[in-house]
Amino acid sequence: MKATAKANSNTALIKYWGKKDEELIIPMNNSISLTIDSLTTYTTVEFSQDFLEDSFILNNEKQIEKALERVVKHLNLLRSLAKVDLKAKVISKNNFPTAAGLASSASGFAALTLASCKALGLKVNSRELSILARQGSGSAARSVLGGYVEWLVIDEKNDSSVIQLADKDWFDIRDIIVIFEKHKRKISTRDAMKLSMETSPFYKARLETIEENLAKIRQAIKDKNFSLLGKTAESDCLSMHSVAFTSDPSLIFWTGETLAIMTLVKSLRDDGLEAYFTIDTGSNMHILTLPKYAEKITGILKELPYIRDVIVAKPGDGATIVNDHLF
Ligand code: PMV
Repeated sequence: MKATAKANSNTALIKYWGKKDEELIIPMNNSISLTIDSLTTYTTVEFSQDFLEDSFILNNEKQIEKALERVVKHLNLLRSLAKVDLKAKVISKNNFPTAAGLASSASGFAALTLASCKALGLKVNSRELSILARQGSGSAARSVLGGYVEWLVIDEKNDSSVIQLADKDWFDIRDIIVIFEKHKRKISTRDAMKLSMETSPFYKARLETIEENLAKIRQAIKDKNFSLLGKTAESDCLSMHSVAFTSDPSLIFWTGETLAIMTLVKSLRDDGLEAYFTIDTGSNMHILTLPKYAEKITGILKELPYIRDVIVAKPGDGATIVNDHLF
């Protein structure tokens, strides 16, 4: 009863920001993302009667309290489905700098769900896998599939799952991930989006523009229209952050460096290097561009003293089972 899975992170082009159902993690709106190849989590899970309690080691560090509780809660969901009552050992590794504060819950919960299902003998298809991964972390649902993915509030079978809009080879773009010094987020995404829904006067306005932006991104992917994709993703990012700013208390995820790079991205565009930014709940950011501009832009970024690391990602694969166990 042991299995290992690998899952990639994803970059939201239309963001998920708010839940209809807190427990089942049903989002308020559909979201669209690109699964990327450079931020990967590997997770081995084993269920055995030799284990007296669940344990979780991430990047060689034993996890306790909230981090452990979240994993145990997810294991309980999967164990109850499989009607198995054995404790588990979970070892996870990210292939990206951990101290950088890059979101790893998407790749992490996608890998944990797939490895656990396999180890428990649960036969699930990718739709069912996304429904389970979603309950660990919303954005993990999208990392189940590769390429361009839409997470549906409600699918044809009356549940919230994901579909692939296009595979990773359909439309080749680059996601340049810009990492600043570590700034630890003080609030969880779960609490942050709840606060936004409850207090931001802009929340309703954001929802009113979502359908139009989703349609634009779908069209941009279909037509391989990078300008439309980038412009719409950047605009949705600003919409999500406007909601965050106007929450009470206000949620400001940006730093001076974030703003400096936002300005730089605009000037790159003016100079003919087409690029757009998107930012989640941290100061680190993503610059979307075309393969032909990636090297030039990366060179410019690497000159900046306040940037700690730059990772160039391509469209990537969905979660898969691998044979090499971590223990
Ligand atoms: O899946 P969570 O709970 O980490 O939430 C992700 C929220 C955003 O990253 C800000 C947006 C998104 O769609 O990924």
